[in-house]
Amino acid sequence: VLEGTCPAGGDTIGGVFTSKPTLSDWYPDRLRVEQLHRDGAAANPLADLDYPAAFATIDLAELKADIKRFLTTSVSWWPSDYGSYAPQMVRMAWHAAGTYRIADGRGGAGQAMQRFAPISSWWDNGNTDKSRRLLWPIKQKHGNALSWADLMILTGNCALEVMGFPTYGFGGGRRDAWEADDATYWGPEHIDMTHPDSYDGMVTREQRWTGEPGSADYELEQPLAASHQALIYVNPEGPNADGDPAGSAVDIRITFGRMAMNDEETVALIAGGHAFGKSHGQVAAARIGAPPEIAPMEQMGLGWHNPEGTGNAQHTMTNGIEGSWTPNPTQWDNSYLENLFGHEWEQTRSPAGALQWTPVDPTAPRTPDAHLAGVEHPLMMMTSDIALKVDPVYRAICEGFLADFDAFTLAFSKAWYKLTHRDMGPKSRYLGPEVAAEDLPWQDPLPAAEGTVVSDAEIGALKQAVLASGLAVSDLAFTAFSSASTYRDTDKRGGANGARVALAPQKDWAVNARTVAVVAALRQVQERFNGGSASAEVSLADLIVLGGCVAVEQAARAAGQELEVPFTPGRVDATAEQTDVPTFEWLRPVVDGFRNFVQQGYPLTSRVAPEQAFLDEAALLKLTAPEWVALTGGLRVLGCNHDSSGSGVFTDRVGVLSTDFFTTLTSMDYEWHKQDEAGTSFTLDDRDTGTTAYRASRNDLLFGSNSQLRAIAEVYAGSDGHPRFVRDFVAVWDKVMMADRYDVAGRQADR
Ligand code: HEM
Repeated sequence: VLEGTCPAGGDTIGGVFTSKPTLSDWYPDRLRVEQLHRDGAAANPLADLDYPAAFATIDLAELKADIKRFLTTSVSWWPSDYGSYAPQMVRMAWHAAGTYRIADGRGGAGQAMQRFAPISSWWDNGNTDKSRRLLWPIKQKHGNALSWADLMILTGNCALEVMGFPTYGFGGGRRDAWEADDATYWGPEHIDMTHPDSYDGMVTREQRWTGEPGSADYELEQPLAASHQALIYVNPEGPNADGDPAGSAVDIRITFGRMAMNDEETVALIAGGHAFGKSHGQVAAARIGAPPEIAPMEQMGLGWHNPEGTGNAQHTMTNGIEGSWTPNPTQWDNSYLENLFGHEWEQTRSPAGALQWTPVDPTAPRTPDAHLAGVEHPLMMMTSDIALKVDPVYRAICEGFLADFDAFTLAFSKAWYKLTHRDMGPKSRYLGPEVAAEDLPWQDPLPAAEGTVVSDAEIGALKQAVLASGLAVSDLAFTAFSSASTYRDTDKRGGANGARVALAPQKDWAVNARTVAVVAALRQVQERFNGGSASAEVSLADLIVLGGCVAVEQAARAAGQELEVPFTPGRVDATAEQTDVPTFEWLRPVVDGFRNFVQQGYPLTSRVAPEQAFLDEAALLKLTAPEWVALTGGLRVLGCNHDSSGSGVFTDRVGVLSTDFFTTLTSMDYEWHKQDEAGTSFTLDDRDTGTTAYRASRNDLLFGSNSQLRAIAEVYAGSDGHPRFVRDFVAVWDKVMMADRYDVAGRQADR
C-alpha cells in the first residue's frame, strides 16, 4: 500500500462483482439451485403489466398493415433483398420458434429468447439481429402493448402474407423474458465464438449421438433437438458438412421429430420456408466479426461485422451458402419443389467455401440477384434440401405436394401455425382476433365447461363423501399430486385440468400405479353425486384435486392446525380422442423426486445425477427454492412415494403434516451410510446404537447436503418452523393444483 493512499482505493481495479472465478467456475457440477429464480419479477421492468389488457388496446389489422408496409421498404444500413424484408423475417420467426423441443418444453418463440445469449449469438442466428433491429420502430410505436415475442411471430405471418401465402391464424400472448437463460442445456460442447473460424469450429462440434447413422440405435441425446450446437436443427451442408443428403435426412427426421413434427409437417416446413428468400455466403466466415453478445461496444448490440464492401446487400454473409432456391423468391409458388425434382443437382462451393448444390442442366431456370439489376445466378439447393428428394418417405410426400399445390399450401399453413404456437399451452392463452377457431390436437384440447359449477355447500358435501369413501390421506394426496404435477411451465402443457391422469398413457405409467384404485373410488363418488339431486355436476378432474385438499386438511388437523386448503372448481374431463398419446408420453417423468421415483436403469444410463433431474423438475413446475423444499418435505410425511416405500419418510406418524422430515434431516443424532456403490440409496443409523432408523434416496438427502436447500430446511426444522411450514406447504400445494388454470379469470395477467 502506497503511503497516503487508501488501501481499498487506487488507480486500478483488479476485479469487481461477478469477476471470475465465480462459484460455478470453482465447482462446475454444483447444483445451481439459484437458477430457480432466474427471470424473476426483480429483473422485469413490466412486472406490474397486465399484458392481455395491454395487447387488447392494439388494433391488430392496423398493426399488420404497418408491418406489411415496412416489409416492402429498404433502409440504407441494411438494404432489403429483392426490395423485401419478408424472407428474412420468415427466417427470424422460424428460428425464434424452432428452438422448441418436446422433451422438456423448453425453447420456442414464447419469450423472445432470440434477444439474449446464447441464442442471440448462435452462428445459425446470423443476422437475425438485423431483422429484429429493423423492427424496432414498430416495437417502439406500440411499447409495452406488444411484446417482442408476439411481434416477431406476427411479423413472420405478415411476411408470408405479403408474399401471397395464406396463414392459418395468429394468437398473441407471449410474454418477453428479461434476462438470458443461463440454465437450459443446449448441448455438451462449448463453442469459442470469438475464434475467427468459429464456423468450422461449430461444424465439428457435434451433439452427443449414440449408434451409427442408419442403425436402429442411432440416437441424439435428450432433450436436444439440434444435430449441432448453435444450430436450430441440422447442418445445411449435411452431417459434419459431409454433403450426404441421405445422412441429412436421418438427422432432419430426428431433430424435427423432437419438435413433435411428423414427416409431412417436416417436408411442408422446409419446402415451404425455402420457397422464399436466399442464403448469404459472399465472404469467408473467418473474416466475419464477433456475434452480438461479444461484439465491440460501438456496434451497439449488433454482431457479425462484415468487412467486405458495405458489409451488406450484395456482400452479405450469413450462413456461408450462397443463392436462392427459386426464380421468384418473394412469391409463394411451387417452384422450390418443381426445381428440386425437375433437375439433377451437383455439388459446388459458394464464394465463402460452403458446400452446396447447383443444377447440372445449364438451361435450368435462373434467379435474379437480390440487389444488382440485370444480374442472374444459377439456382441453389442445400444438402438438407436434396435430402427431401433422396429420402423415400420425404420424396413421396414431396411428390404429393408437387401434384397438389393447395394441399401443400394447407399443410405448410397448419405446420407454421403449430411451429409458432406450439409452446403457448392451451388455446385459452391465445389473444386477439386471428386465433384459429379449430381445436388442434397439439393444443391438448379440453371440452368446454358445461352446466353450473359446484357451490360451496356442495363442495362441503363432496368432501364428506370423499372422507366416507375410506381412501387414505396419502393415497388421496398422491393422486392429486400425480394429476397436477405433469404441468410444465416451459410450454404450459400438463396439469390437473382434463383428468388425463385417468386416461392413457398416464394411467399406465409405472409412477402412477397408486392412482388407479383411487381414481376408481373417486369415480364412484362422482357418479353418486352427479346422479343425485344436486343441480351441478362435478368433474373427475375437480374431484381428484378436491381429494388432495381433503387429505392436506386432514393431515394439518392431525398436526394440530385447522385450515381450509383453497379449492377452485371448474375443471373439465378430457376424452381419449382429445389426448394425443405419443405427445403425452413426453410428460412421463424419468425422475420424479417429489414422488421419489427414479426410472429403472437410471442413473447408470445417464450422465445426470437424479438430484439434477429433480432440480429440472422443480424448474419445470416453476417453483422457488423454498417452495421446492416445503413441497418435498410435506409430500414425504404425507407418504407420497410412488411405491409407498419409506424412503425419505422420516416420521413415525405418516399422514400428519409435521416438520419431521426436516428435523430428522438436520439432526446430528444420526449418521448416513451409502448402501450401494453408486450412492443411490442410504440408511440413516442411530449414531449411538447403530440401529437403522430410516432409509433415503439422493432426492431425500439433497435437502440436507446442499447448502442452499439445507438453509431452507433449517427454517422449517426450527422450533418455530411448524406454522410457517404448514402455511408454505399449503400455498405451494395450491400453486401446483392451479398451475394450469388459465381458464380462471384474473390468472392470465400473471403468467
Ligand atoms: C434461409 C437452413 C428449414 C425458412 C436458410 C439459410 C440456411 C437455412 C442455411 C440461409 C441463411 C442465410 O445465409 O441467410 C435451413 C435448414 C433447415 C431449414 C438446414 C432444416 C433442415 C427452414 C424452415 C423454414 C425456413 C422450416 C421456415 C418454415 C428460411 C427462409 C430463409 C432461409 C425464409 C431465407 C432467409 C433470407 O432470405 O434472408 N435456411 N433451413 N428454413 N430459411 Fe431455412
